[in-house]
Amino acid sequence: MTTTTTTTIIPSNPSFFSSAPFIPADAIFALTAEYTADKHPQKVNLGQGTYRDSTGQPWVLAAVQKSREVLLNQGLNHEYLPILGLQTFRQEASKLALGGEIYDRVQDRLATCQSLSGTGALHLAGLLLRSCRAPLPKIYIPAPTWSNHHQVFSSLGFECISFPYYSATSKSLDMETYLATLNGCPENSVVILHACAHNPTGCDPSREEWKTIGKAMKERKLFPVFDAAYLGFNSGNVDDDAFAIRYFVGELELEVGVCLSFAKNMGLYGERTGCVFFVSNAAQAATNTQSVLEMLQRSEVSNPPAYGAKIAATVLTDPELKALWYKDLETMSGRIRAMRVALFEGLNGHGAPGNWDHLVRQSGMFGFLGLSPEVVLRLKEKYHIYMADNSRISIAGLNPGNVDYVARSIAGCLRGE
Ligand SMILES: Cc1ncc(COP(=O)(O)O)c(C=O)c1O
Repeated sequence: MTTTTTTTIIPSNPSFFSSAPFIPADAIFALTAEYTADKHPQKVNLGQGTYRDSTGQPWVLAAVQKSREVLLNQGLNHEYLPILGLQTFRQEASKLALGGEIYDRVQDRLATCQSLSGTGALHLAGLLLRSCRAPLPKIYIPAPTWSNHHQVFSSLGFECISFPYYSATSKSLDMETYLATLNGCPENSVVILHACAHNPTGCDPSREEWKTIGKAMKERKLFPVFDAAYLGFNSGNVDDDAFAIRYFVGELELEVGVCLSFAKNMGLYGERTGCVFFVSNAAQAATNTQSVLEMLQRSEVSNPPAYGAKIAATVLTDPELKALWYKDLETMSGRIRAMRVALFEGLNGHGAPGNWDHLVRQSGMFGFLGLSPEVVLRLKEKYHIYMADNSRISIAGLNPGNVDYVARSIAGCLRGE
């Protein structure tokens, strides 16, 4: 006798994750992946803001190289750091941004916490503001800005408001609109400020303009959060690049938040080495703030990564290594400046239609070309030159071997070739 077995098919339940939306890949990381997959011999990556040397290779800074040797010779272990991070690193990082004299004046009013690079510093700043301020302050963010700013703060539940600071017509700072925005912000709003090397425009306020901005913020009772991802990398001089932070704290005696990254200025991109600190006007408020940071850090990552902080702390505490680092900063910023000029001259030399003066007025890692999305796409598809959709280029991706090709290609594209 034969028996037949019947299989009951249990209808599968909808996935636990069926309501997850699809989020398109981050544009700049996706562009890097496209570049990597491109096999063309003349391809050029001007997308991601990472330093490259004159042969187009990543560069381990001389000071970092030496610092690694020092750490190895000392015997490197892999123990946990404290929750707030490496004490010498937190101290030296905040001292670097504030300068020794202001640091001494405010050190008992400082709350500091090591972070996962600059992004983690901004995120911790957001978490702290969310824990300490009710109702939630609005966050004012200059437009255009770094592509991640809105996401960092809106994912924490903040209302983010873009305000224009850059005139696309004059390709320079629009101070009038900037000040009108500040004067119209509700009291206690948070304003994100690029301490230097404004991403993506490379357009920073002058010292006099910073003073005016700071005074307006003080009058309006606004809270500045400096995003300082390029200290020293911008001009080659940390003191110059930290002018706004030091003026706001040292002269205007404002309470501020500062988010530091050592990705660009020490080349510690993958080590996720950063620090967030707050200067408050009362020692007890600083102690409490730091205790909140400690709790937030514990619940997020328990304790931060050690290696990059040890490298940076060694550089910052050893006078010889620090001097070497200052030279490295000059090397990087000097090479970028030279490539900025070479591109400017190349564009003019190849008769690229338009005026390119803004390129040499800008500073920092980026050049904001002002090309249409169609030209940007054509540069990628025909010439294998990759840049952000808004035509921001990482000048560090240029070198003597490719700058003429880039200038010639842009000129050709603009002429419709
Ligand atoms: C303005 C700005 N802020 C913050 C960051 C954060 O960088 P990281 O998290 O790698 O330190 C960047 C990186 O490009 C940036 O341009």
